[in-house]
Amino acid sequence: MTRVHGYCCLRCGKHYPRDFVIDSRGCPACHGEAPSNLRLVGSPDILVAEAPSQEGGKAISSLWRYAHRLPCPARLAVSFGEGLTPLLPAPRLGTRIGVPQLLIKDEGRNPTWSHKDRFSSVAVSVARVQGARVVATASSGNAGASLAAYAARAGLTCVTATFAGAAGPMLAQIHKTGAIVVPFASKTDRWKFLAEGVERLGWFATSPYRAPVVGSHPAGIEGYKTLAFELVEQMHGQVPDWCVLPVCYGDALAGLWRGFLELQEERSIDRLPRLVAAEVHGSLSAALAGDQDCLPDVKTCSDTVAVSIGATRSAYQALNALRQSDGVAVPIGDCDLIACQEQLSLDEGLFAELASVAPFAAIEFLRTRNVITQRDRVVAIVTASGLKDIDRSMCRAPEQPTFSSVAEAWSHISAETRLHLRSAQEPVFTTRH
Ligand SMILES: Cc1ncc(COP(=O)(O)O)c(C=O)c1O
Ligand SMILES: [Zn+2]
Repeated sequence: MTRVHGYCCLRCGKHYPRDFVIDSRGCPACHGEAPSNLRLVGSPDILVAEAPSQEGGKAISSLWRYAHRLPCPARLAVSFGEGLTPLLPAPRLGTRIGVPQLLIKDEGRNPTWSHKDRFSSVAVSVARVQGARVVATASSGNAGASLAAYAARAGLTCVTATFAGAAGPMLAQIHKTGAIVVPFASKTDRWKFLAEGVERLGWFATSPYRAPVVGSHPAGIEGYKTLAFELVEQMHGQVPDWCVLPVCYGDALAGLWRGFLELQEERSIDRLPRLVAAEVHGSLSAALAGDQDCLPDVKTCSDTVAVSIGATRSAYQALNALRQSDGVAVPIGDCDLIACQEQLSLDEGLFAELASVAPFAAIEFLRTRNVITQRDRVVAIVTASGLKDIDRSMCRAPEQPTFSSVAEAWSHISAETRLHLRSAQEPVFTTRH
Protein backbone atom coordinates (compact mmCIF):
# COMPACT_ATOMS: atom_id res chain seq x y z
CA MET A 1 0.00 0.00 0.00
CA THR A 2 1.24 3.46 -0.80
CA ARG A 3 0.73 6.36 1.58
CA VAL A 4 -1.29 8.37 -0.91
CA HIS A 5 -4.28 9.82 0.89
CA GLY A 6 -5.38 11.95 -2.07
CA TYR A 7 -4.40 15.00 -4.10
CA CYS A 8 -4.93 18.71 -3.74
CA CYS A 9 -4.76 21.51 -6.31
CA LEU A 10 -2.02 24.03 -5.62
CA ARG A 11 -4.08 26.84 -7.08
CA CYS A 12 -7.76 26.35 -6.13
CA GLY A 13 -7.26 23.98 -3.18
CA LYS A 14 -9.77 21.40 -4.49
CA HIS A 15 -9.24 17.88 -3.10
CA TYR A 16 -9.28 14.65 -5.10
CA PRO A 17 -9.41 11.07 -3.77
CA ARG A 18 -6.45 8.69 -3.77
CA ASP A 19 -7.85 6.73 -6.77
CA PHE A 20 -8.03 9.91 -8.89
CA VAL A 21 -6.37 9.25 -12.25
CA ILE A 22 -3.39 11.57 -12.72
CA ASP A 23 -3.64 12.38 -16.41
CA SER A 24 -0.95 15.06 -16.69
CA ARG A 25 -3.44 17.92 -17.02
CA GLY A 26 -3.36 18.68 -13.32
CA CYS A 27 -6.48 19.95 -11.58
CA PRO A 28 -9.67 19.45 -13.71
CA ALA A 29 -11.22 22.55 -12.10
CA CYS A 30 -8.30 24.69 -13.31
CA HIS A 31 -7.82 23.14 -16.79
CA GLY A 32 -9.13 26.02 -18.86
CA GLU A 33 -8.28 29.15 -16.94
CA ALA A 34 -4.83 28.69 -15.44
CA PRO A 35 -3.68 25.06 -15.48
CA SER A 36 -2.29 24.02 -12.14
CA ASN A 37 -0.74 20.85 -10.85
CA LEU A 38 -1.88 18.60 -8.05
CA ARG A 39 0.21 17.91 -5.04
CA LEU A 40 0.09 14.63 -3.24
CA VAL A 41 -1.52 14.52 0.19
CA GLY A 42 0.10 11.87 2.39
CA SER A 43 -1.79 9.67 4.75
CA PRO A 44 -1.51 11.25 8.23
CA ASP A 45 -2.08 8.06 10.29
CA ILE A 46 0.74 6.20 8.59
CA LEU A 47 3.03 9.21 8.90
CA VAL A 48 2.81 9.08 12.67
CA ALA A 49 2.79 5.28 13.00
CA GLU A 50 5.84 4.81 10.81
CA ALA A 51 7.97 7.79 11.79
CA PRO A 52 11.35 6.20 12.49
CA SER A 53 13.31 6.93 15.58
CA GLN A 54 16.07 9.47 14.99
CA GLU A 55 18.61 6.64 14.96
CA GLY A 56 16.61 4.26 12.77
CA GLY A 57 16.12 6.91 10.11
CA LYS A 58 19.76 7.94 10.10
CA ALA A 59 20.89 4.36 9.49
CA ILE A 60 19.45 4.43 5.97
CA SER A 61 22.07 5.82 3.60
CA SER A 62 19.75 7.34 1.02
CA LEU A 63 16.89 9.82 0.95
CA TRP A 64 14.71 6.97 2.23
CA ARG A 65 15.88 7.94 5.71
CA TYR A 66 12.99 10.41 5.37
CA ALA A 67 10.58 7.65 4.30
CA HIS A 68 8.05 8.66 6.96
CA ARG A 69 7.52 11.87 4.96
CA LEU A 70 7.35 10.10 1.57
CA PRO A 71 4.46 8.31 -0.14
CA CYS A 72 5.98 4.81 0.11
CA PRO A 73 7.56 2.88 3.00
CA ALA A 74 11.34 2.37 2.86
CA ARG A 75 11.04 -1.43 2.68
CA LEU A 76 9.26 -1.09 -0.68
CA ALA A 77 11.58 1.56 -2.11
CA VAL A 78 13.44 1.26 -5.39
CA SER A 79 16.73 2.75 -4.37
CA PHE A 80 20.41 2.81 -5.01
CA GLY A 81 21.75 5.44 -2.69
CA GLU A 82 20.09 8.59 -4.06
CA GLY A 83 20.13 11.79 -2.05
CA LEU A 84 22.38 12.67 0.92
CA THR A 85 24.52 14.69 -1.49
CA PRO A 86 27.23 16.98 -0.06
CA LEU A 87 26.68 20.61 0.80
CA LEU A 88 29.98 22.25 -0.06
CA PRO A 89 31.24 25.67 1.02
CA ALA A 90 32.28 27.58 -2.11
CA PRO A 91 34.25 30.55 -0.73
CA ARG A 92 36.30 31.38 -3.84
CA LEU A 93 33.45 31.47 -6.29
CA GLY A 94 31.24 33.03 -3.60
CA THR A 95 33.66 35.89 -3.01
CA ARG A 96 34.02 36.41 -6.75
CA ILE A 97 30.25 36.83 -7.21
CA GLY A 98 29.74 38.78 -3.98
CA VAL A 99 28.32 36.13 -1.64
CA PRO A 100 31.18 34.76 0.49
CA GLN A 101 28.76 32.45 2.33
CA LEU A 102 27.91 30.50 -0.81
CA LEU A 103 27.11 26.82 -0.40
CA ILE A 104 26.70 24.32 -3.22
CA LYS A 105 24.42 21.30 -2.98
CA ASP A 106 26.09 18.93 -5.42
CA GLU A 107 23.33 16.87 -6.98
CA GLY A 108 25.72 15.50 -9.56
CA ARG A 109 26.64 12.90 -6.91
CA ASN A 110 23.36 11.04 -7.34
CA PRO A 111 23.36 7.51 -8.89
CA THR A 112 22.63 8.70 -12.44
CA TRP A 113 24.44 12.01 -11.81
CA SER A 114 21.45 14.32 -11.54
CA HIS A 115 18.85 15.48 -9.02
CA LYS A 116 16.18 13.61 -11.02
CA ASP A 117 17.05 10.48 -9.03
CA ARG A 118 15.18 11.96 -6.06
CA PHE A 119 12.13 12.10 -8.29
CA SER A 120 12.58 8.72 -10.01
CA SER A 121 13.27 6.76 -6.84
CA VAL A 122 9.97 7.88 -5.29
CA ALA A 123 7.90 7.81 -8.51
CA VAL A 124 9.07 4.31 -9.52
CA SER A 125 8.55 3.01 -5.97
CA VAL A 126 4.96 4.26 -5.98
CA ALA A 127 4.39 2.97 -9.53
CA ARG A 128 5.59 -0.51 -8.58
CA VAL A 129 3.52 -0.65 -5.40
CA GLN A 130 0.48 0.42 -7.43
CA GLY A 131 1.05 -2.54 -9.75
CA ALA A 132 2.45 -0.71 -12.81
CA ARG A 133 4.50 -2.84 -15.20
CA VAL A 134 5.55 -0.08 -17.57
CA VAL A 135 6.80 3.38 -16.64
CA ALA A 136 7.09 6.02 -19.35
CA THR A 137 8.46 9.49 -19.90
CA ALA A 138 8.79 12.09 -22.61
CA SER A 139 12.42 12.94 -22.00
CA SER A 140 15.74 12.55 -23.74
CA GLY A 141 17.59 14.19 -20.88
CA ASN A 142 18.28 13.67 -17.21
CA ALA A 143 14.71 12.63 -16.40
CA GLY A 144 14.81 9.92 -19.06
CA ALA A 145 18.24 8.67 -17.97
CA SER A 146 17.15 8.53 -14.37
CA LEU A 147 13.79 6.85 -14.99
CA ALA A 148 15.41 4.21 -17.22
CA ALA A 149 17.88 3.35 -14.46
CA TYR A 150 15.27 3.09 -11.71
CA ALA A 151 12.96 1.04 -13.95
CA ALA A 152 15.82 -1.38 -14.63
CA ARG A 153 16.46 -1.65 -10.90
CA ALA A 154 12.78 -2.24 -10.21
CA GLY A 155 12.43 -4.84 -12.97
CA LEU A 156 9.90 -2.67 -14.82
CA THR A 157 9.80 -1.82 -18.50
CA CYS A 158 10.64 1.77 -19.35
CA VAL A 159 9.43 3.61 -22.46
CA THR A 160 11.22 6.84 -23.32
CA ALA A 161 9.81 9.09 -26.03
CA THR A 162 12.81 11.14 -27.11
CA PHE A 163 13.20 14.31 -29.11
CA ALA A 164 15.85 15.65 -31.47
CA GLY A 165 18.76 17.52 -29.88
CA ALA A 166 19.38 15.19 -26.95
CA ALA A 167 22.83 15.22 -25.34
CA GLY A 168 24.83 12.10 -26.25
CA PRO A 169 25.76 10.97 -22.73
CA MET A 170 22.16 11.12 -21.47
CA LEU A 171 20.89 9.21 -24.51
CA ALA A 172 23.63 6.64 -23.94
CA GLN A 173 22.42 6.19 -20.36
CA ILE A 174 18.85 5.65 -21.57
CA HIS A 175 19.90 3.09 -24.18
CA LYS A 176 22.31 1.21 -21.95
CA THR A 177 19.73 0.65 -19.24
CA GLY A 178 17.48 -1.12 -21.71
CA ALA A 179 14.68 1.42 -22.05
CA ILE A 180 12.51 1.22 -25.16
CA VAL A 181 13.53 4.41 -26.95
CA VAL A 182 11.02 5.93 -29.35
CA PRO A 183 12.41 9.03 -31.10
CA PHE A 184 10.04 11.68 -32.43
CA ALA A 185 10.62 14.65 -34.69
CA SER A 186 7.75 16.60 -33.12
CA LYS A 187 7.02 17.27 -29.49
CA THR A 188 3.26 16.97 -30.07
CA ASP A 189 3.54 13.43 -31.49
CA ARG A 190 5.72 12.46 -28.57
CA TRP A 191 2.98 13.50 -26.18
CA LYS A 192 0.21 11.82 -28.21
CA PHE A 193 2.19 8.60 -28.15
CA LEU A 194 2.56 8.74 -24.38
CA ALA A 195 -1.12 9.62 -23.87
CA GLU A 196 -2.10 6.53 -25.89
CA GLY A 197 0.22 4.37 -23.81
CA VAL A 198 -1.32 5.66 -20.58
CA GLU A 199 -4.94 5.56 -21.68
CA ARG A 200 -4.98 2.33 -23.70
CA LEU A 201 -2.16 0.30 -22.17
CA GLY A 202 -2.06 1.45 -18.57
CA TRP A 203 1.49 2.86 -18.53
CA PHE A 204 2.54 4.89 -15.50
CA ALA A 205 3.75 8.20 -17.01
CA THR A 206 6.09 10.12 -14.78
CA SER A 207 6.43 13.11 -17.11
CA PRO A 208 3.82 15.47 -18.51
CA TYR A 209 2.39 14.54 -21.89
CA ARG A 210 -0.01 17.39 -22.62
CA ALA A 211 0.36 21.10 -23.18
CA PRO A 212 0.27 23.36 -21.33
CA VAL A 213 2.55 21.52 -18.96
CA VAL A 214 1.72 21.67 -15.27
CA GLY A 215 4.57 19.50 -13.99
CA SER A 216 5.52 15.87 -13.53
CA HIS A 217 3.81 13.16 -11.49
CA PRO A 218 3.00 14.40 -7.95
CA ALA A 219 4.45 11.24 -6.36
CA GLY A 220 7.90 11.96 -7.77
CA ILE A 221 7.77 15.62 -6.78
CA GLU A 222 7.51 14.43 -3.17
CA GLY A 223 11.07 13.13 -3.61
CA TYR A 224 12.39 16.66 -4.00
CA LYS A 225 11.20 17.54 -0.48
CA THR A 226 14.25 15.65 0.72
CA LEU A 227 16.45 18.46 -0.63
CA ALA A 228 15.01 20.71 2.08
CA PHE A 229 15.28 18.04 4.80
CA GLU A 230 18.94 17.45 3.96
CA LEU A 231 19.80 21.14 3.72
CA VAL A 232 18.42 21.91 7.17
CA GLU A 233 20.19 18.90 8.63
CA GLN A 234 23.48 19.82 6.94
CA MET A 235 23.14 23.40 8.21
CA HIS A 236 22.58 22.12 11.77
CA GLY A 237 18.96 23.22 11.92
CA GLN A 238 19.49 26.55 10.21
CA VAL A 239 17.77 27.75 7.07
CA PRO A 240 19.58 29.46 4.20
CA ASP A 241 18.49 32.97 3.22
CA TRP A 242 18.23 31.96 -0.41
CA CYS A 243 17.99 28.73 -2.42
CA VAL A 244 18.78 29.15 -6.09
CA LEU A 245 17.88 26.50 -8.69
CA PRO A 246 17.91 26.04 -12.44
CA VAL A 247 14.22 25.82 -13.32
CA CYS A 248 12.28 24.39 -16.22
CA TYR A 249 8.76 23.27 -15.16
CA GLY A 250 9.63 23.74 -11.52
CA ASP A 251 9.25 20.17 -10.21
CA ALA A 252 12.32 20.52 -8.01
CA LEU A 253 11.48 24.07 -6.97
CA ALA A 254 7.95 23.04 -5.92
CA GLY A 255 9.16 19.93 -4.09
CA LEU A 256 11.93 21.80 -2.27
CA TRP A 257 9.41 24.42 -1.16
CA ARG A 258 6.97 21.76 0.13
CA GLY A 259 9.82 20.25 2.11
CA PHE A 260 10.52 23.56 3.84
CA LEU A 261 6.80 24.10 4.48
CA GLU A 262 6.50 20.68 6.11
CA LEU A 263 9.47 21.40 8.37
CA GLN A 264 7.90 24.72 9.34
CA GLU A 265 4.48 23.13 9.99
CA GLU A 266 6.03 20.71 12.44
CA ARG A 267 8.10 23.52 13.98
CA SER A 268 11.48 22.06 13.06
CA ILE A 269 12.35 25.44 11.51
CA ASP A 270 11.06 28.90 12.34
CA ARG A 271 11.72 30.69 9.07
CA LEU A 272 11.70 29.94 5.36
CA PRO A 273 14.22 30.69 2.63
CA ARG A 274 13.52 32.86 -0.39
CA LEU A 275 13.69 30.93 -3.65
CA VAL A 276 15.27 31.97 -6.92
CA ALA A 277 14.42 30.40 -10.27
CA ALA A 278 17.27 30.68 -12.74
CA GLU A 279 15.36 30.30 -16.01
CA VAL A 280 16.51 30.78 -19.58
CA HIS A 281 13.77 32.61 -21.44
CA GLY A 282 11.76 34.44 -18.79
CA SER A 283 8.32 32.84 -18.56
CA LEU A 284 8.28 33.00 -14.74
CA SER A 285 9.71 36.53 -14.69
CA ALA A 286 6.91 37.67 -17.02
CA ALA A 287 4.19 35.98 -14.93
CA LEU A 288 5.54 37.49 -11.70
CA ALA A 289 5.74 40.94 -13.23
CA GLY A 290 2.22 40.70 -14.68
CA ASP A 291 0.66 39.13 -11.59
CA GLN A 292 -0.81 36.35 -13.73
CA ASP A 293 -1.69 32.76 -12.81
CA CYS A 294 -1.42 31.55 -16.39
CA LEU A 295 2.20 31.16 -17.51
CA PRO A 296 2.98 32.93 -20.78
CA ASP A 297 4.79 31.08 -23.55
CA VAL A 298 7.58 33.57 -24.17
CA LYS A 299 9.66 34.03 -27.29
CA THR A 300 13.06 32.36 -27.28
CA CYS A 301 15.62 35.12 -26.85
CA SER A 302 18.48 32.98 -28.14
CA ASP A 303 19.63 29.43 -28.72
CA THR A 304 20.65 28.10 -25.35
CA VAL A 305 23.26 25.58 -24.34
CA ALA A 306 21.20 24.97 -21.18
CA VAL A 307 18.95 22.56 -23.06
CA SER A 308 17.73 20.84 -19.88
CA ILE A 309 15.96 24.04 -18.82
CA GLY A 310 15.25 25.42 -22.29
CA ALA A 311 11.41 25.49 -22.13
CA THR A 312 9.74 28.74 -23.14
CA ARG A 313 6.86 28.20 -20.72
CA SER A 314 7.24 27.16 -17.08
CA ALA A 315 4.44 25.82 -14.86
CA TYR A 316 2.12 27.12 -12.15
CA GLN A 317 3.81 25.10 -9.41
CA ALA A 318 7.02 27.12 -9.91
CA LEU A 319 5.18 30.43 -9.89
CA ASN A 320 3.35 29.41 -6.73
CA ALA A 321 6.58 28.50 -4.90
CA LEU A 322 8.20 31.78 -5.94
CA ARG A 323 5.21 33.85 -4.81
CA GLN A 324 4.87 32.07 -1.49
CA SER A 325 8.57 32.41 -0.73
CA ASP A 326 8.80 36.05 -1.80
CA GLY A 327 11.14 34.72 -4.43
CA VAL A 328 12.53 35.96 -7.70
CA ALA A 329 12.93 34.63 -11.23
CA VAL A 330 15.99 35.61 -13.23
CA PRO A 331 16.06 35.08 -17.00
CA ILE A 332 19.68 34.31 -17.75
CA GLY A 333 19.10 34.56 -21.51
CA ASP A 334 22.25 34.23 -23.55
CA CYS A 335 24.69 34.56 -20.66
CA ASP A 336 27.89 32.62 -21.28
CA LEU A 337 27.23 29.40 -19.40
CA ILE A 338 30.36 27.72 -20.73
CA ALA A 339 32.39 30.49 -19.05
CA CYS A 340 30.33 30.07 -15.83
CA GLN A 341 30.97 26.33 -15.94
CA GLU A 342 34.72 26.88 -16.27
CA GLN A 343 34.78 29.44 -13.46
CA LEU A 344 33.03 27.01 -11.12
CA SER A 345 35.58 24.32 -11.98
CA LEU A 346 38.54 26.67 -11.62
CA ASP A 347 37.40 28.10 -8.29
CA GLU A 348 35.84 25.09 -6.63
CA GLY A 349 36.91 22.02 -8.60
CA LEU A 350 33.34 21.08 -9.44
CA PHE A 351 32.30 20.15 -12.97
CA ALA A 352 28.59 20.78 -13.53
CA GLU A 353 26.16 20.52 -16.43
CA LEU A 354 25.64 23.77 -18.35
CA ALA A 355 22.05 24.14 -17.12
CA SER A 356 23.25 23.53 -13.57
CA VAL A 357 25.52 26.58 -13.49
CA ALA A 358 22.62 28.93 -14.30
CA PRO A 359 22.17 29.65 -10.54
CA PHE A 360 25.57 31.36 -10.41
CA ALA A 361 24.61 33.74 -13.21
CA ALA A 362 21.35 34.47 -11.35
CA ILE A 363 23.12 35.07 -8.03
CA GLU A 364 25.57 37.46 -9.66
CA PHE A 365 22.71 39.36 -11.27
CA LEU A 366 20.77 39.66 -8.00
CA ARG A 367 23.90 40.63 -6.12
CA THR A 368 24.64 43.54 -8.48
CA ARG A 369 21.11 44.81 -7.77
CA ASN A 370 21.56 44.23 -4.03
CA VAL A 371 18.53 41.93 -3.89
CA ILE A 372 20.89 39.35 -2.42
CA THR A 373 23.29 40.97 0.04
CA GLN A 374 26.87 40.17 0.90
CA ARG A 375 25.88 38.77 4.29
CA ASP A 376 23.30 36.33 2.94
CA ARG A 377 23.74 32.58 3.15
CA VAL A 378 23.00 31.35 -0.32
CA VAL A 379 22.58 27.74 -1.42
CA ALA A 380 23.00 27.00 -5.11
CA ILE A 381 21.55 23.67 -6.16
CA VAL A 382 23.84 22.27 -8.82
CA THR A 383 21.49 19.78 -10.41
CA ALA A 384 23.72 17.58 -12.59
CA SER A 385 27.27 16.57 -13.45
CA GLY A 386 29.28 18.18 -16.22
CA LEU A 387 29.70 14.79 -17.87
CA LYS A 388 26.02 14.90 -18.84
CA ASP A 389 26.39 17.33 -21.73
CA ILE A 390 30.09 17.17 -22.34
CA ASP A 391 29.51 17.09 -26.11
CA ARG A 392 27.98 20.57 -25.83
CA SER A 393 30.40 22.09 -23.33
CA MET A 394 33.51 20.93 -25.19
CA CYS A 395 32.44 22.57 -28.44
CA ARG A 396 34.86 25.46 -27.85
CA ALA A 397 37.76 23.43 -26.51
CA PRO A 398 40.98 23.89 -28.49
CA GLU A 399 42.68 20.93 -30.17
CA GLN A 400 45.22 19.48 -27.73
CA PRO A 401 48.57 18.68 -29.32
CA THR A 402 50.44 15.55 -28.27
CA PHE A 403 54.17 15.84 -27.75
CA SER A 404 56.77 13.45 -29.08
CA SER A 405 59.41 14.42 -26.52
CA VAL A 406 59.73 16.02 -23.10
CA ALA A 407 61.64 18.94 -24.61
CA GLU A 408 58.77 19.60 -27.02
CA ALA A 409 56.29 19.48 -24.13
CA TRP A 410 58.29 22.10 -22.19
CA SER A 411 58.48 24.31 -25.27
CA HIS A 412 54.66 24.48 -25.35
CA ILE A 413 54.45 25.69 -21.77
CA SER A 414 54.53 29.46 -21.55
CA ALA A 415 57.35 31.27 -19.72
CA GLU A 416 54.82 32.53 -17.17
CA THR A 417 53.59 29.02 -16.39
CA ARG A 418 57.15 27.72 -16.16
CA LEU A 419 57.88 30.39 -13.58
CA HIS A 420 54.76 29.40 -11.69
CA LEU A 421 55.77 25.75 -11.77
CA ARG A 422 59.23 26.42 -10.44
CA SER A 423 57.93 27.04 -6.93
CA ALA A 424 55.88 23.84 -6.90
CA GLN A 425 57.36 20.68 -5.38
CA GLU A 426 56.15 18.45 -8.21
CA PRO A 427 56.14 19.75 -11.78
CA VAL A 428 52.62 19.81 -13.15
CA PHE A 429 52.14 19.87 -16.89
CA THR A 430 49.56 22.41 -17.88
CA THR A 431 48.98 24.46 -20.98
CA ARG A 432 46.18 26.52 -19.46
CA HIS A 433 48.08 29.50 -18.06
C1 LIG B 1 20.14 19.49 -15.02
C2 LIG B 1 18.74 19.99 -14.82
N1 LIG B 1 18.55 21.03 -13.99
C3 LIG B 1 17.33 21.53 -13.77
C4 LIG B 1 16.21 21.00 -14.40
C5 LIG B 1 14.89 21.66 -14.11
O1 LIG B 1 13.88 20.80 -13.82
P1 LIG B 1 12.48 21.24 -13.22
O2 LIG B 1 12.41 22.70 -13.07
O3 LIG B 1 11.46 20.78 -14.21
O4 LIG B 1 12.39 20.53 -11.94
C6 LIG B 1 16.36 19.93 -15.29
C7 LIG B 1 15.20 19.37 -16.00
O5 LIG B 1 15.25 18.56 -16.86
C8 LIG B 1 17.66 19.39 -15.49
O6 LIG B 1 17.87 18.33 -16.30
ZN1 LIG C 1 -7.52 23.74 -9.21
